[in-house]
Amino acid sequence: MSKIVIAIDGFSSTGKSTIAKQLAKQLNYIYVDTGAMYRAVTYFALEQQYIGEGFFKEEALIQNLDSIHITFKFNPDLGFAEVYLNGENIEAAIRTLEVSKYVSPVATLSEVRRKLVEQQQLMGKDKGIVMDGRDIGTVVFPEAELKIFMTASAETRATRRYQELLGRGHQLSYEEVLENVTTRDHIDSTREDSPLVKAEDAVEIDNSDLSIETQLDRLVFMAKTLIEE
Ligand code: DC
Repeated sequence: MSKIVIAIDGFSSTGKSTIAKQLAKQLNYIYVDTGAMYRAVTYFALEQQYIGEGFFKEEALIQNLDSIHITFKFNPDLGFAEVYLNGENIEAAIRTLEVSKYVSPVATLSEVRRKLVEQQQLMGKDKGIVMDGRDIGTVVFPEAELKIFMTASAETRATRRYQELLGRGHQLSYEEVLENVTTRDHIDSTREDSPLVKAEDAVEIDNSDLSIETQLDRLVFMAKTLIEE
């Protein structure tokens, strides 16, 4: 039995983290949500007023990257690790539409990516990890044993995200969420540094019409086949 690295990439709100979390649990692997790390940097940038409506002080953010310490701490009640920024639990605070609105421009900065990718590679150095994001199979772990690329129509994804945000008590319209999803897709796929692309050797799963159970069964099967090889 050998430990492997599982990279799950794809567009926003494809349900990557739901599947990745459950897959990690079944395999007894560590799960890392790299989107949460980009969101944590964005939360910091908003707090420091480096970014906001109509402005982005990129240089100020870059110069202060060393003040950002991102950690994950397992919460047994939730069954997954929550994200902390400089010791503060920001798991809920980074899931707002405001953070979603500014995260893609922040994630275009190479200095930000370099810092986070280094930390991600360190977290996966002993394998036994499921990591989800946009560039895991292409940049962070190009040698990952299993690579998945998740897609679903923009409308399906916006509906899922809309219902999730409503469930958490946010007041917003479906149109706002759809606009955020499509804008992020565009920025994430066209940025110069590490754009969202399917790795050549990734397995593509369009989950518009697939239940979580079906997707999970497929992934567990693929992973176990590789682990037992
Ligand atoms: O997975 P998510 O929606 O929480 O990610 C938030 C944003 O972070 C996403 O729009 C793009 C960026 N991101 C990235 O550029 N690279 C990653 N590995 C993960 C996320």
